[in-house]
Amino acid sequence: MSQGVAKGCLLALLAATVFAAAPAAQKQAAPAASQAKPAPASEYVGSDTCKTCHEGPAKSFEHGPHWKTELSKHQGPEWQGCEACHGPGKAHAESADAAKIIRFPKLKREESSKRCLQCHEFGEEHANFLRSQHLKNNVGCIDCHSIHSAKVESHLMKASQPQLCYGCHQEVKPDFSKPFHHRVNEGLVKCSDCHNPHGGFLTHQLRATAAQDQVCFTCHTDKAGPFAWEHGPVKTEGCVACHMPHGSSNPRLLKRSNVNLLCLECHTFTVDSAAPAAPSFHNQAQKYQACTLCHTATHGSNTDEFFFKP
Ligand code: HEC
Ligand code: HEC
Ligand code: HEC
Ligand code: HEC
Ligand code: HEC
Ligand code: HEC
Ligand code: HEC
Ligand code: HEC
Ligand code: HEC
Ligand code: HEC
Repeated sequence: MSQGVAKGCLLALLAATVFAAAPAAQKQAAPAASQAKPAPASEYVGSDTCKTCHEGPAKSFEHGPHWKTELSKHQGPEWQGCEACHGPGKAHAESADAAKIIRFPKLKREESSKRCLQCHEFGEEHANFLRSQHLKNNVGCIDCHSIHSAKVESHLMKASQPQLCYGCHQEVKPDFSKPFHHRVNEGLVKCSDCHNPHGGFLTHQLRATAAQDQVCFTCHTDKAGPFAWEHGPVKTEGCVACHMPHGSSNPRLLKRSNVNLLCLECHTFTVDSAAPAAPSFHNQAQKYQACTLCHTATHGSNTDEFFFKP
């Protein structure tokens, strides 16, 4: 189910074009998604009519992915071409009155996004958009995508990452300029590798692995375990118990500049937690400050209860 609907949709469309009689399942796929009763077919004029007056949008439509909607002839005009998005256009085409056609920027973000979701709501990627922090804060599809004047052709983006995201998320920008950071500005890792801009089921719109585990495991597979001796917080609180996921002044992206300060947040007598206090011989003489010099396998171990070796 990880494929966008659009793809499923298109497959259905293509299949239907090849096998003139559309199987019932395909017929269901689209209309099930429609939110309101479509207007009668007589109120649609077809893209060719629109193109006679709108050369620019016609070109971007033909060069972009949405020309493929023209293949859905069996599904009725409300699924085809310009009018699949802009709604029935007969009254507008006859009058050239801009008020008689759907203009996306004039709609509420929820409404315009729902139009896109008619075709794009299937699959995990967009399943939770209506409940996403983005839509809840009035950020809709057309804030990140443009159908007719995309700056980045792939995925019809208004801007490439991370600039697109920084445009609204100034507050996280300094994280990625810290001395140590995930190389997002350098293009090695993308915001959308960790976050789903279309929302999701976890906090901070974080993605999960295919096995529904922490997103970090998609790249740092060696940390996933399972280990014979797990280090509690790795599994219970997750990677962010110790790491700053965006960037840090610590070379291992730790939350504290010194590792002993991090470990002693939990491993002291004064803290009421499941973590045993560091033994008393761990006086804070130099020797015991570099905790991970001895406890090398902080993320868990298969051989040693105290994480001395992997
Ligand atoms: C006879 C010529 C003609 C035809 C046919 C036509 N339009 Fe238009 N359209 C216009 C004119 C003129 C405007 C108004 C431009 C303005 O007011 O700035 C317009 C405005 C629009 C707008 C709003 C533009 C904006 O800047 O907000 C959209 C969207 C639009 N048309 C889409 C369509 C679609 C989709 C079709 C086919 C169903 C279509 N038009 C058919 C002439 C036409
Ligand atoms: C996938 C949905 C979709 C399809 C298909 C589509 N449009 Fe649009 N159209 C939009 C959106 C969204 C906007 C708002 C501006 C943007 O995102 O680029 C828009 C804007 C416009 C405008 C306003 C002027 C402009 O360039 O922004 C016109 C005119 C227009 N479309 C005409 C058409 C015509 C003609 C077709 C078919 C050849 C068409 N559209 C197909 C979604 C669509
Ligand atoms: C906050 C910005 C943002 C919003 C809002 C947004 N998108 Fe996206 N979308 C993206 C980014 C970024 C990508 C590219 C992800 C990548 O490169 O992996 C993307 C990718 C896509 C893709 C192609 C990838 C796929 O898995 O299908 C589609 C289709 C898409 N978006 C549709 C939509 C629709 C429909 C909406 C509204 C319901 C929407 N987007 C809202 C940022 C956004
Ligand atoms: C009538 C159905 C339909 C509607 C409505 C629709 N789309 Fe699409 N969309 C498609 C199809 C079909 C594709 C092509 C999928 C493919 O090539 O596999 C597509 C492709 C895309 C892509 C590119 C995906 C990629 O992988 O690069 C983006 C982004 C996208 N649509 C966004 C939108 C947005 C934003 C809207 C609303 C303004 C919208 N779509 C409305 C059917 C639709
Ligand atoms: C390596 C994975 C990763 C990357 C790449 C990443 N993030 Fe995050 N982001 C996270 C995690 C994990 C959290 C949750 C932190 C927490 O729970 O303390 C988060 C939190 C956030 C938050 C909410 C909390 C805050 O810090 O303000 C925003 C907004 C955010 N990220 C935006 C972005 C943007 C924008 C980008 C790209 C410029 C990005 N992230 C890149 C993993 C990542
Ligand atoms: C048009 C403005 C806009 C764009 C572009 C945008 N966002 Fe957002 N985003 C917001 C708003 C507004 C919120 C909700 C308020 C907040 O948490 O900052 C939000 C929320 C989020 C959150 C949830 C934060 C939390 O604490 O739960 C994440 C994560 C996020 N955005 C990531 C991204 C990423 C990644 C991109 C780029 C692909 C992006 N955003 C693009 C405006 C935007
Ligand atoms: C898309 C892949 C990807 C994801 C997802 C990812 N990382 Fe990374 N991470 C990297 C890469 C690549 C590097 C190497 C950085 C470099 O060389 O610039 C790295 C480096 C690190 C480092 C520093 C490693 C060192 O060599 O010192 C830490 C710590 C880290 N990541 C933690 C996390 C955490 C925590 C998460 C989840 C919130 C996460 N990563 C998610 C790709 C990823
Ligand atoms: C967020 C709290 C937290 C932090 C930070 C933390 N730990 Fe732990 N640690 C625990 C808990 C809880 C346990 C015991 C339960 C468990 O392992 O499942 C534990 C267990 C241990 C054990 C095994 C103890 C035993 O008796 O088996 C060692 C060794 C250890 N931690 C070392 C460290 C080191 C070194 C650091 C710093 C790199 C560190 N811990 C950081 C919570 C923490
Ligand atoms: C209990 C604290 C703690 C937790 C929780 C934790 N880490 Fe770490 N991590 C560390 C410490 C301490 C280091 C530095 C080890 C060193 O200095 O040798 C480190 C180093 C790393 C490194 C770079 C060096 C290496 O071993 O590859 C990566 C990558 C990393 N962690 C990823 C993760 C991921 C992914 C998670 C979540 C599954 C996670 N960490 C959870 C404490 C933690
Ligand atoms: C020079 C090596 C060394 C360093 C450095 C070191 N430890 Fe230990 N640690 C040990 C030894 C040895 C044990 C005892 C193992 C045993 O009981 O067999 C131990 C045990 C522990 C235990 C288990 C206590 C218990 O009762 O189960 C914790 C927690 C711990 N250390 C935390 C830390 C922390 C936090 C630091 C950094 C401030 C640190 N250690 C630095 C060698 C070290």
